[in-house]
Amino acid sequence: MVITHQAESHIGKVAKLATKVVNTVRENQVCLTEDPSFYWMRTLARFQRVREWATSTPESNAQASTLLPSDCLFIKNSFDRVSQILEQDGYYQGLQLSSKTLAAFLKFAETTPCYANRNPDLKFLLHERSALEAKLGRPILLGSYFDAHEAFQPFQALKTDPLLLAIASTYLGREPQYHRGEIAWSFPAPASEAEKLAAAQVLHCDINDYKTIKFFFYLTDVDAESGPHVYLRGTHRNRKLHHQFMGQRCASIPDETLIETYGADSVETVCGPAGFGFAGDPYTFHKGTTPTRHPRLLLQMEFGINQYKMWHFDTNHTKQN
Ligand SMILES: [Fe+2]
Repeated sequence: MVITHQAESHIGKVAKLATKVVNTVRENQVCLTEDPSFYWMRTLARFQRVREWATSTPESNAQASTLLPSDCLFIKNSFDRVSQILEQDGYYQGLQLSSKTLAAFLKFAETTPCYANRNPDLKFLLHERSALEAKLGRPILLGSYFDAHEAFQPFQALKTDPLLLAIASTYLGREPQYHRGEIAWSFPAPASEAEKLAAAQVLHCDINDYKTIKFFFYLTDVDAESGPHVYLRGTHRNRKLHHQFMGQRCASIPDETLIETYGADSVETVCGPAGFGFAGDPYTFHKGTTPTRHPRLLLQMEFGINQYKMWHFDTNHTKQN
C-alpha cells in the first residue's frame, strides 16, 4: 500500500513536470513566431554582460535637474544624486507625488471598478469588497484596475512628466519606451506559497527588456504591516552566475536562500506615507510583501529601451510588484 502511494506520488510529479515542459516549449514557440526579438531578449537579457553591452553606449543626452518643471512630483535629492544611487543600489527612494496628483488618484481608486485577483469576471467597487468576499467565500488578495488608468489624465500627466522621464532616460541611456503601468490594491489576507508566487510576493526579478526602470508610488500609507516593497540592494549588478542562468526562474528559490546569498544587510524594506515614491531596476531582486493588517494601494509604471509586440509578463499577468 505504501509503495502504491509512493508510486502514485512519483507519477504525479513526473506528469506535472511533463506538463510544465510542454507548456514552456509551446510558449517559446509562440513567442519565437510572433515576436523573435522579444524571445531573444528574454533568453539573453538574463545575463549581466549582455545587459551591460546592450546599453554600453548611451544614446540619450538627458540634461536634467531638480529645476525641471513638474506638476506631478518632487525628488528629495539632486538629480545627479538620484542617478548615482540608482546605478549603485538599483533603486532610489525619495520621490513624492504632489498633493493634487495624489488626491486625483485616490478619487480614481474610489470611483473606478477594479478586478479581484486580476480576474476579469470579478469586477467590484472598493466599497463592495466585503460583499464580494462574502459571496466568494474567501478573501480577495488583489484588486487591479487593469488598464483603466490609461484613460485617466493624471496618469498620462505622470507618465509624460519631464522630471520622471529625465530620471528614466538617464538610467536607461536611451529614450524611455513606456511598457505598461498598473494601479492595484493588495489586501491583507492569508496567502499560500503558491498564491504569493502568483502575486509576485516572493523575491524575484523581472526581465522585460535589456534594461528597464520602474516607478512606484504608494497611494496609501505603507508601514511594515501594509505589504511594503522589499528589494536586495545592488543585486542588479552582482548577480551570481547560476542565478543569471536561471533568469526569472529565480522566483522559485526560497527568499531565505537569496537573502543568505546576497547578505542580510542588502535587504531594504520601503515604507512611506501616501504619495511616497521610488524608482527601481526590476532586474534587482524584489517583491511586494503580503499585507498583514492594512491594504496597500500602489501605482507603478515601467519603461524600457525597446517596444515589443508581445506582452511582457506571464499570461496570468501577475508579475507586477
Ligand atoms: Fe516584479
